[in-house]
Amino acid sequence: MTLRHFLTLRDLSTAELNRIIDRAQELKRKQHNNETFQPFVGKVMGMIFEKSSTRTRVSFEAGMSQFGGSAIFLSSRDTQLGRGEPIEDSARVISSMLDIVMIRTFGHDIVERFAEYSKVPVINALTDDHHPCQLLADIQTFVEHRGSIEGKTVAWIGDGNNMCNSYIEAAHMWGFKLKIASPKGYEPKPEFLSEFGHCVDLVDSAEDAAVNADLIVTDVWASMGQEEEQKIREKAFADYQVNEKLMDLAHPDCLFMHCLPAHRGEEISENMLDHKNAVVWDEAENRLHAQKALVEFLLNENLKKA
Ligand code: CP
Ligand code: NVA
Repeated sequence: MTLRHFLTLRDLSTAELNRIIDRAQELKRKQHNNETFQPFVGKVMGMIFEKSSTRTRVSFEAGMSQFGGSAIFLSSRDTQLGRGEPIEDSARVISSMLDIVMIRTFGHDIVERFAEYSKVPVINALTDDHHPCQLLADIQTFVEHRGSIEGKTVAWIGDGNNMCNSYIEAAHMWGFKLKIASPKGYEPKPEFLSEFGHCVDLVDSAEDAAVNADLIVTDVWASMGQEEEQKIREKAFADYQVNEKLMDLAHPDCLFMHCLPAHRGEEISENMLDHKNAVVWDEAENRLHAQKALVEFLLNENLKKA
């Protein structure tokens, strides 16, 4: 039997994803009730970071401690990865000592190559192309506030980036309609979009996407690694800000999410995070619970095979 990884949402079935969302809510209740739950004493996670992080690092590290295990932070700045040791060699060595690995890096092929040579489950903690862990937290948050997302309409406003790609896969896996409004030249890749024509529509403006939406989501205009494009992107994205006026076009119960970090005055208005329908702090906290459910799923799947 092959080892299970989580490189994109499509590595799991819809039933498995829903099990994780349900379990995340149970684990959250346990945590809020101060219940000790330590099924993974002695298990160790490797956390490879080639890009910065606050939420991802804190949530995985805290989650492993709460489970009775531990995590090792491995920055490319001070491991041999940063000095050119091949990813395949690193994967063989690191996975021979640890029980599970998460990686945040640039090219998506890096997590794929690591997973190919890994003896333990690998989690994509963000690549240039996907951010599936964030989607687990976002769907959990939607379910907690509004119930099932199946059949709902979600508006993605902004860059056709890693988060947008994971929203496209989420629309397919959870059965919702995704309307994408991106400036010309910043849309998701056409070959990726065409695979998902049954659940995704590219629309002409942020307003078109927002009308009747049940959830509006955005992200930074320049992602990590695109810092030099900041100025040119500010011009291109000027009409793609999520603000109170845009929220008024949506369904009155429409939620607002942002994976964070956010840039007030750019992709969101100054007060957008304080909007009555913004759920960004719950969304951020749910990274912890959703990823604990994911880690539990992958470790248990792997133990079954041992
Ligand atoms: N949303 C998210 O992944 O945040 P960090 O970059 O802080 O991990
Ligand atoms: N699109 C952003 C997400 C950060 C969590 C980035 O890749 O920098």
